[in-house]
Amino acid sequence: MKLFAGKAKGKPDAVFLFFLEGEKNLSTAAREADRLCKGQVKKLLEMGFKAGSRESELVHLPAGRWRMAVMLGLGERKTLDSERFREAVAAGLKRLCKYSLKSVEVEMINAKGTMVIEPEQARAIGEAAFFAGYRYREFKKDDGSFPSELCLFGNEGDISAPVKKAEITGQEHCYVRDLVNKPGADKFPEMLVKEARKAAKEFKLEIKVYDEKSLKKMGYNGILRVGQGSSRPPRMVMLRYRGANKPLIGLVGKGVTFDTGGISLKGPEGMERMKDDMTGAAVVLGVIRAAARMKLRQNLVAVIPLAENMPGAAAQRPGDILRMGDGTTVEVISTDAEGRLILADAIHHCRLQKPAKIIDVATLTGACNIALGRFAIGLMGTDEELMTGLSHAGLVAGERCWALPLWDEYKEMIKGEISDLRNVGRGREAGTIIGGMFLKNFARKTPWAHLDIAGTAWAIEPHPYLGKGPTGKGLRLLLRFLEAQT
Ligand code: BES
Ligand code: ZN
Ligand code: ZN
Repeated sequence: MKLFAGKAKGKPDAVFLFFLEGEKNLSTAAREADRLCKGQVKKLLEMGFKAGSRESELVHLPAGRWRMAVMLGLGERKTLDSERFREAVAAGLKRLCKYSLKSVEVEMINAKGTMVIEPEQARAIGEAAFFAGYRYREFKKDDGSFPSELCLFGNEGDISAPVKKAEITGQEHCYVRDLVNKPGADKFPEMLVKEARKAAKEFKLEIKVYDEKSLKKMGYNGILRVGQGSSRPPRMVMLRYRGANKPLIGLVGKGVTFDTGGISLKGPEGMERMKDDMTGAAVVLGVIRAAARMKLRQNLVAVIPLAENMPGAAAQRPGDILRMGDGTTVEVISTDAEGRLILADAIHHCRLQKPAKIIDVATLTGACNIALGRFAIGLMGTDEELMTGLSHAGLVAGERCWALPLWDEYKEMIKGEISDLRNVGRGREAGTIIGGMFLKNFARKTPWAHLDIAGTAWAIEPHPYLGKGPTGKGLRLLLRFLEAQT
């Protein structure tokens, strides 16, 4: 799909018209569409089209600039935000998907005096077309069709910059979802290394790949032990993007290419979803690719630990004690709490690069879904300013997060009896916080934040514009965060 700022060059097939609840005055394009269909737009408004959010109506136009107009509700003006635009665009595309149209124009409503700013609105509309139009096409043909171009018009300022950003964000979001959708049979540490190498070449990033030998040399037993039950060996990738001479920002993403739980085997129900346990890794890769494509003025390092958690003959056992890269000893009570083991070494490795701050993103704990449901990313960390920045970025990006505490009192719960730490708490209490507390130990004094996306990375119920399956959660939030960093 291509995005354009301005009216379509050729003859567009359809037009998206936005409406606010309780406001019946027509925009310029709505007036034109109403004239072309002899007053049907107005009639629908009178007959019961309320313009509530996600509400849509299709009108056929017998002649004129467009063949169809899609009326899209945004809800009330006072609650209007970018999320309403994303949902409306998704509803519009759904209406059109059986008609195989090529070109769609979108009229930006005149939003003077509201909290909606046009560039932000343009970005939300543009991104949403990618989010809602995404399909995983490797193993099944398309069931519908989406327009090949979307032209945003009617704005007052220049929107070419946000439109370009929307395109990059949208494409990288699709890239992340494709990686997450890929089955475990075809997705393993070395395969993601290949993806990282491809990205490095294409977007001029520096890359370092650590194989088992070099992981052993550095003492990264967290990564090695988690990976040793699989026939496909673990790896770690480090990528660098130098877009400015600024304090370094470290990004770390959990890359468990499949999580069976290991010897502490998971139950069979829903285990197929555990191919998404590398979402953090995919997100970090997508973010650094997007940062390079957007030429963000930032200095970034991404560290991606990669392992497959399998119950093989060589797998680690519950009760095993390992020495992590930073010297900490850990008793592995559950081999299913593997994410924190590989992340601990990766965070340590990231720290050695001397970043000003570190952010990790991980499908870390099922408990996060219990605590926050599917609507919020779990946010934890040691730095108030960093956490506030992430919170704010999540809000504008449409990926909200909510903070949980990492107080010293929780430390008690992961203290080991015959080792420094154990990798799980005692009982089921505060599972998400325990995961955060474990990682905090390895971030030490470096300002650090942790995003637990276990509850949000995979949509079981269809999301209003992301549908079912991988949601790429974290990518938009981190990109916005990096864009906002001065
Ligand atoms: N990858 C899982 C977390 C997860 C669970 C993500 C469900 C998405 C949906 C993680 O490695 C894990 O298994 N965590 C355990 C931790 C426990 C053993 C302390 C969990 O959540 O049960
Ligand atoms: Zn696990
Ligand atoms: Zn896991």
